Amino acid sequence: MNPIRLFLTAASLAAAAAFAPSKTVLRPAHQTSSALYVQGQGDGYKKVFVAGGSKGVGRLVVDKLLSEGTDVVALVRSDEKVEELSALEGVTAIKGDAADYKTVEGAMDGCDAAITTLGGGSQAEDGKFIDYTGNNNVIEAAGILGVTRVILLTSIGCGSSKEATPPNVYEVLKDVLAQKEKAENVLIKYYTNMNWTIVRPGGLVSEDATGNAVLTEDTTAIGSIHRADVADLVVQALSSKATEKKILSAIDPTITSSANTEGRVPEAFALN
Ligand SMILES: NC(=O)c1ccc[n+]([C@@H]2O[C@H](COP(=O)([O-])OP(=O)(O)OC[C@H]3O[C@@H](n4cnc5c(N)ncnc54)[C@H](OP(=O)(O)O)[C@@H]3O)[C@@H](O)[C@H]2O)c1
Repeated sequence: MNPIRLFLTAASLAAAAAFAPSKTVLRPAHQTSSALYVQGQGDGYKKVFVAGGSKGVGRLVVDKLLSEGTDVVALVRSDEKVEELSALEGVTAIKGDAADYKTVEGAMDGCDAAITTLGGGSQAEDGKFIDYTGNNNVIEAAGILGVTRVILLTSIGCGSSKEATPPNVYEVLKDVLAQKEKAENVLIKYYTNMNWTIVRPGGLVSEDATGNAVLTEDTTAIGSIHRADVADLVVQALSSKATEKKILSAIDPTITSSANTEGRVPEAFALN
């Protein structure tokens, strides 16, 4: 493993540990308002481009879209993933590198919305991070093709949410966060005609959905969230007009973590 990659892996592990949930999952006693928590939401777009759909949140986004009857075009990097995703009814899987603009544009052509969960924080051989280059390609291609609905998944710690992040976590993740923030800024500053939404999750955990996660405009919100809940929220955000041109953090207040030991509950963003 090259030294940069080794450093990033170590850094990610340190940060994940700092965000990681403690054993406690709080009883959602505050689950009183239906607007506060994850609710199913019907209609949406017909064919959605997903970058990052091979695994993690992106893969769960693909499943969620399919469950709502939405077709998916997934850009993935390996033959194995093309085969796995192509086996799902409603998915067109295209093999390609998101770092290549033409590949992204070709794959997205014909879609009416785009979601990118690209990331991973490792540098390509040319020293560039997919967290910026790939996400920027998705944004640019959407602009060129007239795909006006875009959801960009970044992270708490980007932009206005910097102060929410514990300093030790910010320190190890700052290079990756800066790349994600650069992609955010492209959307915010240059794509004023686009109906974008930026979703910034807290520390990700691979567990079943709790249904207690929230989107919030509170830039001080911090904590953990299950990947399945992020996917649910992203797909709900896609068909919620209220989320257009919004930057929303995503956390699960019922999970206590080292970053949110008191289980502070931010004001939830109403999706409808
Ligand atoms: N881990 C955390 O606690 C945390 C916290 C906040 C935000 N985030 C961010 O949330 C997002 C989802 O995270 P996750 O851990 O669920 O997923 P992940 O494992 O980081 O998956 C990233 C996705 O990007 C794809 N990808 C990377 N480089 C690519 C390239 N050059 N071309 C095409 N695809 C490429 C990966 O495909 P391959 O399978 O080919 O690698 C994968 O599908 C990421 O952006 C992550 O940085 C993570």
